[in-house]
Amino acid sequence: MTTIQIGTPVSLVTGANKGIGLETVRRLIGAGHRVYLAARDVERGRTAAEALGARFVELDVTSDASVRLAANVVEREEGHLDVLVNNAGITGPLRDVHEYTGEDVAAVLLTNVAGYVRVMHAFLPLLELSADPRIVNVSSGLGSFALFHDSSRIESRAGTPLYGAAKSAINMLTARYAQLLPGIRINSADPGMTATDLSGGQGHSVKDGTDAIIAFAIGGPDTPTGAYRDGDGDLPW
Ligand SMILES: NC(=O)c1ccc[n+]([C@@H]2O[C@H](COP(=O)([O-])OP(=O)(O)OC[C@H]3O[C@@H](n4cnc5c(N)ncnc54)[C@H](OP(=O)(O)O)[C@@H]3O)[C@@H](O)[C@H]2O)c1
Repeated sequence: MTTIQIGTPVSLVTGANKGIGLETVRRLIGAGHRVYLAARDVERGRTAAEALGARFVELDVTSDASVRLAANVVEREEGHLDVLVNNAGITGPLRDVHEYTGEDVAAVLLTNVAGYVRVMHAFLPLLELSADPRIVNVSSGLGSFALFHDSSRIESRAGTPLYGAAKSAINMLTARYAQLLPGIRINSADPGMTATDLSGGQGHSVKDGTDAIIAFAIGGPDTPTGAYRDGDGDLPW
């Protein structure tokens, strides 16, 4: 495997035109990275990228063609990628539990799970050319079985079954991929309840919500792999 010695680290954040993704881009730029702000909507993505001094790349995580094109752009312009932040996500439909359908499940898993896998695989060859490659999968405390079973925690009461199941799947993917790809630090970050459109504006600041993501993305040599953390530290799976 050829390893490129990097100068300015190169990062890419999916679903980054707003919310946690946008704040992640802002903080990575602040840390000296060259950042690709990836978004499915060209106008909103470009506007957000210009405001922060990021590079815009169009990327819809549900489309193989779109993800491949985005990877081609980064390959052409940078030759490698150091940090991938899998962030694009949806809550999916909020219904009475009797009303969920197979299509509802498919839609949530398509974006929140298949989307993460699709993006990881498209960028894997570029990450494997980095001297210190990292993947941060933005998960949720709602994906933790242990927190669900702890009645003192909000995670035991909040969230929908489909969203929680998708985030549990992301956690298992993180654990498994970290084991299978020991050369890449692959971790799950829980933002905690964060005030964005997804949470209906409830929760702590996007700064607080990105602490775990940023720690995994730019932390020093003791940064783990296969870990699951929020801004305060390790979470039970
Ligand atoms: N906010 C919280 O309390 C909280 C807590 C735990 C975990 N999280 C996780 O944090 C991540 C970011 O959420 P957020 O709170 O920042 O939500 P948000 O403000 O709703 O932002 C979600 C982003 O994902 C993008 N997106 C959705 N589907 C996409 C697709 N198919 N392709 C590309 N981009 C797509 C959206 O793009 P458009 O603007 O085009 O729709 C938007 O940029 C998600 O994975 C979420 O599950 C959030």
